Amino acid sequence: MPVLTDVKRLYTCPPEARADDVGEIESAAMVWREGRVEWVGREQDLPVAYADEPEVSAAGLTVVPGLVDCHTHLAFGGARADEFTERLNGTSYLDIAARGGGILSTVRATREASEELLQVNADLLLCRMLRRGVTTVEAKSGYGLSLADELKQLRVYKRLAQTSRQRLIPTLLAAHAVPPEFSGNRDGYLDLICNEILPAVAAERLAVFCDAFVETGAFTPDEARRVFAAARGLGLVPKLHADQLSDTGGGALAAEVGAASADHLENISEASIRAMARAGTVAVSLPLATLVLGVEPLPARELMEAGVPVAVATDFNPGSAPVADLPLAMWAACVRQRMTPAQVLRGATTVAARALQLHGSVGSLLPGYHADFVLINSSSVETWMYSFDPDAIWYAYIGGEVAYD
Ligand code: NIG
Ligand code: FE
Repeated sequence: MPVLTDVKRLYTCPPEARADDVGEIESAAMVWREGRVEWVGREQDLPVAYADEPEVSAAGLTVVPGLVDCHTHLAFGGARADEFTERLNGTSYLDIAARGGGILSTVRATREASEELLQVNADLLLCRMLRRGVTTVEAKSGYGLSLADELKQLRVYKRLAQTSRQRLIPTLLAAHAVPPEFSGNRDGYLDLICNEILPAVAAERLAVFCDAFVETGAFTPDEARRVFAAARGLGLVPKLHADQLSDTGGGALAAEVGAASADHLENISEASIRAMARAGTVAVSLPLATLVLGVEPLPARELMEAGVPVAVATDFNPGSAPVADLPLAMWAACVRQRMTPAQVLRGATTVAARALQLHGSVGSLLPGYHADFVLINSSSVETWMYSFDPDAIWYAYIGGEVAYD
């Protein structure tokens, strides 16, 4: 039963709390048993029952819950650096998509890539994310868009969930774009998703969530409703890429279908904010994608004031966010979304866990929770975010075991 001592500050990040309540404990200690937190508090209050247990010194570092990246497109083929330059020269993301680039160019490369190559590349990314303190990762499909290729992506995640250190949560995103072989036959593609892809995914238990990209040029709210109804019938929980490039009522749709989260929301309406607040839907902000695409971020303050919990994630993907760095996304959420360091810490831990419906077991350092935590070379989360240091993460523990040092 290890006892972590000599902690400068520890942030428990309680699940049910105000948007800026990070459960800060100065001069803290924490005890865990069989991978779960058993006791946490001030070191001076450590119960004598733990006096003879082995001590692990935090050497004065700061401890936060393991970070949760609740929105990534982890496995894909190819790269799109050419589009990066093209966008910098003035071509829009939608124009690139309209000429068959964007998501569809990654679909071509992902279909061509072997399962082994996808796995090796995703595994390297997971290692990089671990060095950034990320201990739980959501991973979407959506670059296969056929039965065989969506299953290929999700099977990569299933194997990585067994072999990698992090907790991996898979999401089906077959409704990401209409693939070229169905252009002019959208209903045919929706039939394929509902009648073949979803049942196969459910039968092999390859995904927890079912996501859809609701946007002009992608899927309409009614098309997404159809996909979500089929998903619900098979036990998958809805999630949405919503109101990213325009207001399509995505936030309200997420509330209506009981989605675990609505992600992006750069163009969310006030009516959708109210609907999400009433339904308790989590908003996932993706500040790196807004930086890369050069657009305004979501109204994080307004959402929080309305009572909507706001998570922060990377949206790691080859197009709009090719940077797998959650602390950087947290920093960007501070400077671009006017979220405080406390709010982004909650956003990348307990609120992100809520977006994955894991807030009873992950994202907080309280008794019963997985002992997933990160030691940071900074005196507080405020200091960490203020003078953003990419090398501040010194150690990561998952289930009470050292995963990165
Ligand atoms: O979350 N918005 C749609 N999907 C991704 C981008 C995918 C891509 O460009 O390949 C996103 O930004
Ligand atoms: Fe995304």
